[in-house]
Amino acid sequence: MSRRLLRASTALVLTIPLGLAACGSSDEPVPISASGAPTSSSRQFRPGAPGAGDPYFPTYGNGGYDVGHYRVKVRYDPATDRLTGTATVRAAATQDLSAFNLDLAGLTVRSVTVDGAPAKHARTGNELVVTPARGLVSGNGFVAEIAYEGVPEPLANEVLGVGGFLHTDTGAIALGQPESASTWFPVNDHPSDKATYDFEVAVPDGLTAVSNGVPAGKAGSGGWTTWKWAERNPMASYLSTLVIGKFRLTQGEHKGRPVFHAVTTEVAEGAPDRSIARTTEVADYLEGVFGPYPFAAYGGVVVSDSRIRYALETQSRPVYSAGFFRGGDNTGVVAHELAHQWFGNSVALARWQDIWLNEGLATYAEWLWAEHDGERTAQAEFDARYAGSPARVWRTPPGDPGVENLFSESVYQRGAMTVHALRVTVGDSAFFEILKAWASQKRDDNGTTAEFVALSERISGKKLAPLFDTWLTSTTRPDRPTPR
Ligand code: TRP
Ligand code: ZN
Repeated sequence: MSRRLLRASTALVLTIPLGLAACGSSDEPVPISASGAPTSSSRQFRPGAPGAGDPYFPTYGNGGYDVGHYRVKVRYDPATDRLTGTATVRAAATQDLSAFNLDLAGLTVRSVTVDGAPAKHARTGNELVVTPARGLVSGNGFVAEIAYEGVPEPLANEVLGVGGFLHTDTGAIALGQPESASTWFPVNDHPSDKATYDFEVAVPDGLTAVSNGVPAGKAGSGGWTTWKWAERNPMASYLSTLVIGKFRLTQGEHKGRPVFHAVTTEVAEGAPDRSIARTTEVADYLEGVFGPYPFAAYGGVVVSDSRIRYALETQSRPVYSAGFFRGGDNTGVVAHELAHQWFGNSVALARWQDIWLNEGLATYAEWLWAEHDGERTAQAEFDARYAGSPARVWRTPPGDPGVENLFSESVYQRGAMTVHALRVTVGDSAFFEILKAWASQKRDDNGTTAEFVALSERISGKKLAPLFDTWLTSTTRPDRPTPR
């Protein structure tokens, strides 16, 4: 979903006579406009690119279109591990398309339609290539419907660990960064193409299916229960999740928004339940620092699976490994994943190289929460890390860590140190104004490091490019920041 594109396509639609808008075709020339605008006979319909052009992950996502909404309807049977699905993808072409790709890992495609007409489809690796009966005209909307099924498998990614659909004893967990969604639905799998989502998940009675956003109803029939979820804020695809199993559910309301927590019954009631129950309290604290909570629902999911040793900031409803709570209550990880709702989710990456913007700000939120909670101050945390971080942190530039160091200590801790260096340099009042402005100006959008630096310079009135450059790209320890 692109704000610029949506505006442009609205304008285009308004200038096209209604009857002609849907008639773009590669073999049947139809004039688009009588006033010198391109006609389809002069158009060059070409396949969209098989990648979104991310330098770190060239195959992620696709080119030539921009998704606005996904409706993902799936049925999953833990007894057979089989998933049957229908995905409805509403998109707009950003070039004249003869064909376009969706990312889909494994699974078997049964049929594809585009604007209701059967479309050709083929698979190459994890790409689904769709060739509609007629070319898709740049700027026009289209709807692709894909019916598919099979046994979903996780993505093999040795460097980055868990990614995608995992089968568990009682259900499944679809989770992973920087990719995971393509293991259970066809998707333009890059954070630069955010979209809204409706999920409908049918599971055998007795199981819960949790996903993102607002709970939108539950209906049973013939031994199956369908759980519906609606995410109405634009979401990057890796922030989608599906967790199926047996859970202790807590439902409520906070500030007029639904709260929905789920803790696996595989762990005893206690620290996990108590910790995620503080989600709204932590979110309220972060609102004071970052500005309004950006989404329409709150929640958390606690899973227990040896393959998942992380938490992930899945939109509006982070997923936590039960391991975080083995030593007792832990609101630090809750503060981290909630901070991502502003930084990472509402303000999303445009390219994976900028990951420090997510992890540095979320780690800094842990420091702020710890100080607020009466533990050590952010300054003390910075001092300890500045003095005691291992050599690899200073060797690895968080602003360009490389794929293999995407989630390294440098990205998290030196990323947070970079945020603190900014704070020390510009002073508290400009610093907190910068954080709030970044969240509000880029809300439901994407942002880059260069844009964050420019905003920081504008608000502080200081030249900060050299400071960011040193903290983000040097391969030796930067000087201690000083007020300027
Ligand atoms: N972004 C997650 C966090 O900060 C960590 C993470 C990285 C992760 N890759 C993952 C979690 C894959 C689950 C799966 O909290
Ligand atoms: Zn994080």
